[in-house]
Amino acid sequence: MKRTLGVCYYPEHWPEAQWTKDAARMAALGLTWVRIGEFAWTRMEPEPGRYDWGWLDRAIQTLGKHGLKVVLGTPTATPPRWMIDRHPDMLAVDKEGRPRGFGSRRHYDFSHRGYRAECAKIVTAMAERYGRNPVVAAWQTDNEYACHSTTRSYSPAATAAFRDWLAQKYQSPDALNRAWGNVFWSMDYSDFNQIGLPNLTVTEPNPAHVMDFRRFASDEVVSFNRLQTEIIRKHSPYPIAHNYMGAVTEFDHYATGADLDIASWDSYPLGFLVDRVPATPEHKRRFVRQGDPDFQAFHHDLYRAVGRGRWWIMEQQPGPVNWAPYNADPLPGMARLWAWEAFAHGAEAVCYFRWRQAPFAQEQMHAGLLRPDSVAAPAFAEAGEVAKELAAMPEVGTCKADAALVFDYASEWAWETQPQGRGFSHLWLAFQMYRGLRRLGLNVDVLPPDTADLSAYKLVLAPGVCTLSDPLKAALRAYKGTAILGPRTNAKTPDFATPVPLPPALPGLEVVVARAESLPPDVPVPLAQGGNLWHWREVLEGHATVTEVAEDGCPALVSAGKLHYLGGWPDDEALTRILNRACTAEGIETDPLPEGLRLRDTATHRFLFNYNPVPVEWDGVTIPAAGVHWTKL
Ligand code: GAL
Repeated sequence: MKRTLGVCYYPEHWPEAQWTKDAARMAALGLTWVRIGEFAWTRMEPEPGRYDWGWLDRAIQTLGKHGLKVVLGTPTATPPRWMIDRHPDMLAVDKEGRPRGFGSRRHYDFSHRGYRAECAKIVTAMAERYGRNPVVAAWQTDNEYACHSTTRSYSPAATAAFRDWLAQKYQSPDALNRAWGNVFWSMDYSDFNQIGLPNLTVTEPNPAHVMDFRRFASDEVVSFNRLQTEIIRKHSPYPIAHNYMGAVTEFDHYATGADLDIASWDSYPLGFLVDRVPATPEHKRRFVRQGDPDFQAFHHDLYRAVGRGRWWIMEQQPGPVNWAPYNADPLPGMARLWAWEAFAHGAEAVCYFRWRQAPFAQEQMHAGLLRPDSVAAPAFAEAGEVAKELAAMPEVGTCKADAALVFDYASEWAWETQPQGRGFSHLWLAFQMYRGLRRLGLNVDVLPPDTADLSAYKLVLAPGVCTLSDPLKAALRAYKGTAILGPRTNAKTPDFATPVPLPPALPGLEVVVARAESLPPDVPVPLAQGGNLWHWREVLEGHATVTEVAEDGCPALVSAGKLHYLGGWPDDEALTRILNRACTAEGIETDPLPEGLRLRDTATHRFLFNYNPVPVEWDGVTIPAAGVHWTKL
């Protein structure tokens, strides 16, 4: 597979006379892809039903003349103002019951049937016109589903669609009452039309109600996306992608991914570090101009799973962004390092966002490869360097890992719905375990929760997966490697009730979680062999082998052969010991890495990425600050 570079471009932002110069410069830089179109609805359809394709035809032609390929985005994240006059109730409604205003983007309601019909019209018109255009070579649906917290809408349209969804799922109000446990607080319904959305209740709504609403909201994203992919496929043979985000878990990306050919994501490492990654102030200071050393890689591996092997970076941070609380300038070298790290994890393409910094509107302060005056910004030269390096080494190869980590969107919704201890999160628990594996120098594959075969891996982790699926349970039963589950794994039934017999109910492991407690961050539970559990600990009763014990005598990690259950959230010291023990048992070679240095083996090369602001010595080589080093295997 040839790896390629690209850029996001907005021809509608610039005078037409500039397009040729821009295209020539993109080609000279060594770019292959140009993503366009995803916000240009008012330019494509200035008035309802009156299309203007002339400018887009010419923009695509100009790019094509310079040998560039186009990713064409459908503009459905930015419905024009006239659309609101036609469908005043298509605006999404927030949790407090307020309609979202016009004047930015993503103001639509996924459940609004009239808006869906409008989307079908514009996507059909685009697909008919460009579906076989020789310059267009890929599609992007919409833009960043869920961005700006837009998955869940509390509107009349969502209420009606949710009632339908519930009626299909439960068939009768009685079945729903039983599944949700509505006898509690006399919440029984006698008609699906009595059921509202789980907002504006006096105190917390029934968690089973919330979970069904979250599943419904996720399904709405999936069907909204499918509406577009079905139309595009009728008219076009080109692959279809969507651009996902970092640490956004509002909908089931595996389910959306099943209708797409390529998963892509938008990687803004510096914004994410400040805004999203839970870390100490010291960690955030150290990596402020480089980004977290594991956050990008985690998403690369996650989206490789979502894309069933095919994935891209659709938007790569080039300089300061505009949306985080603070927006640092990347260290020289990072725009190159981030791209190479993506390629080492199997990305087919990396596209920088954006070509030229816009001098107007919301993102004026967001860097591009060019400054607003068209002078090259620092990332321009770095992108050129990557293009040259890629030309010299087009094959990077991907590679299977020994270790795998199960990541499940519904589990993130589950613990958001019922954290029990503030901030208990499947995402961040999984991320910590991912980081632990990477610190040992391991490649990691992410697996969806319905994985039916684990035999390719020596070590599998499934922390906090709220309900083990039947295929995964069967796979675990047949599994010959080491599995580490818990805390909170298999702690809920599919109806979001506590199972009896009590969890984790794992085959061969005669242990139950008798009770659980959550603790404030400054109250650790010390372990006898060092390190702590923190935040969450379970009291485990039963007959399994006790592999780790707390200083107070309570079992912390219990085992039956190679199946282990962890009764709490380990700190890094405890986690490293547990992972090291598992690797030794499986004969997995580890390479414990210095802080901020990360390693990735591909089928052809070993890559080292130095996320530190200072050079690092490792294995006889000095890797400069923000440097990448590779050797052929
Ligand atoms: C992404 C989005 C882009 C742009 C970018 C700025 O979330 O897809 O359109 O807004 O952020 O960093």
